[in-house]
Amino acid sequence: LQNSKQFEPDDIDVYSLTKAIELKLDLARFRCEKNEFNDYFHNTALKDHNGNLGRVWIFTTGKRKKRVIGFVTVAMSQLSKQEHKKLSDMTHHKHVPALLLGQMVRDIDFHGRGLGSLMKDWVIARAIDHSKHIGCRLVILHSVDDKIDTYKKWGFVQVDSKKNKNTMFVDLSWHGQ
Ligand SMILES: CC(C)(COP(=O)(O)OP(=O)(O)OC[C@H]1O[C@@H](n2cnc3c(N)ncnc32)[C@H](O)[C@@H]1OP(=O)(O)O)[C@@H](O)C(=O)NCCC(=O)NCCS
Repeated sequence: LQNSKQFEPDDIDVYSLTKAIELKLDLARFRCEKNEFNDYFHNTALKDHNGNLGRVWIFTTGKRKKRVIGFVTVAMSQLSKQEHKKLSDMTHHKHVPALLLGQMVRDIDFHGRGLGSLMKDWVIARAIDHSKHIGCRLVILHSVDDKIDTYKKWGFVQVDSKKNKNTMFVDLSWHGQ
């Protein structure tokens, strides 16, 4: 029964990858159903994080013994205004500044408990925080084919060109910013 419970924000703590290593969290146990993301997490994430190419944030649950249940990688980015009518109406410049949600993955043991939605909300909240200091209007991502519908359900919009159909965005102003 415990394992079917939906996650609430209070169930979750978030640490930078550096902090997670310092706290000796069990990162080695983490796995999802897709090898490309497992390879990324175990072989590349720390290089991205340390090189400041993508900062990796670790989601955990459990107060005393923390279990690593998900991660996101975020970086700065931008989207050409030619990619969507809504973007071309937004700016006189060629691009719209954005936060890139590079990776978002939950552990397979925590499938179907709403963790993806919580991690997405956390990323949007970070983008809103940053946008108070640095121009940042969008959260963008490049979805895998089988998650496009999930991101649509969460309000992300596909860009117009068929070629870039996996590129999706939300406008932070839709979140009251
Ligand atoms: C993308 C991802 C983080 C989304 O996580 P999530 O929203 O928690 O969804 P899960 O994949 O764990 O579970 C999906 C199922 O749970 C259901 N579900 C998700 N959130 C729910 C909620 N809050 N309440 C009830 N059901 C929920 C979904 O409807 C879906 O049902 P289905 O499998 O019958 O279609 C997750 O799917 C994942 O890590 N996938 C592997 C890596 C990946 O592809 N990442 C995307 C990179 S672009």
